[in-house]
Amino acid sequence: MRDFVETEPRVRIEVRLDEEDRRSALHDETFWGLRAEPKELSPVWLYDERGSRLFERITRLPEYYPTRSERKILGRCAAEVAARTGAATLIELGSGTSEKTRLLLDALQAAGTLGCFVPLDASEDVLLRSARTVAERYPALRVHAIVGDFERHLGALPEGRRRLVAFLGSTIGNLHPERRGRFLAALAAVLGPGDALLLGVDLVKDPGVIEAAYNDPGGVTEEFVRNALTALNRDLHADFAQRRFAYQACWDPAREWVDIALRALEGHAVRVEELEADVVFAAGERLRIEVSAKFRRESLERELAAAGMRLEEWWTDADGSFALLLARVGRGRALD
Ligand code: SAH
Ligand code: TRP
Repeated sequence: MRDFVETEPRVRIEVRLDEEDRRSALHDETFWGLRAEPKELSPVWLYDERGSRLFERITRLPEYYPTRSERKILGRCAAEVAARTGAATLIELGSGTSEKTRLLLDALQAAGTLGCFVPLDASEDVLLRSARTVAERYPALRVHAIVGDFERHLGALPEGRRRLVAFLGSTIGNLHPERRGRFLAALAAVLGPGDALLLGVDLVKDPGVIEAAYNDPGGVTEEFVRNALTALNRDLHADFAQRRFAYQACWDPAREWVDIALRALEGHAVRVEELEADVVFAAGERLRIEVSAKFRRESLERELAAAGMRLEEWWTDADGSFALLLARVGRGRALD
């Protein structure tokens, strides 16, 4: 594990996910994912340096409402979150650029409780950039960045008594339901009674609005998704040909998720040298890149309860498009 302190500006960086660890975990998941039905890649392939920059462009697209909705809600509830939690440490999972997070940092700093910010992300480039930016803008704050996987490295989170864990951007919707359950239980296990979770979730709504958010006419989202193949070709010495696949992001009404995939236009085989694998695609076969589940309050409240957490507060925007919720460990009230 690498662990070092930068002096200018003052940032501590802890690397839990080093190159070797990343390779073995990601290679293993990819090996099995390419043999699954349907074939599926790890979302981690999306967020190399180029992917992280493309994601930033997605957040500014007119069709991609989640970022704007969440920012609006955060702007309205940040002071209340600060008052309710009195957080001394703000931990952010899948922090990315931590751009919306400034609204929370400002509110917690105004409340006078905040001492430390702990962003955790698997993408080292974007994490280091944003940790440095936050350290510059908030000179009184200690910044302890963790290069890690939020499904595997929650044990690396610093101890403390009043910690607020933010998990924004509806990134939780990119985990399959079983993995989501395991993740929430693992998170509940590291939270103490004085800690809280602030979770951002995109809500079920008109499928047309949802599908438009993943099918922008300029093709930025398509480029972001196709970048997973570029990353795979580079890191696993594979020979995926972009022209043999079409981008497809569709609302699945039964699963209530957007199924984001690349569909093979013709039958062909792809060589993945590092995995010593020949992957055969039938014409029309889909390679799923990611799912993006949308949520409802009642079922989410049940999922939190199953993980040992209770909902404390729920904020949404005027048209009920996106929600932010505050939860703590402990038994919830009876639901039905
Ligand atoms: N929170 C930001 C960014 C969301 S994009 C926002 O709301 O806009 C999702 C981020 O999660 C990316 O930065 C990606 O690198 C990170 N990520 C995805 N899977 C991860 C994992 N398993 N562990 C840690 N970070 C992950
Ligand atoms: N958490 C984001 C979401 O589910 C991630 C995301 C945005 C995404 N746009 C995407 C993932 C396009 C894959 C493709 O909305």
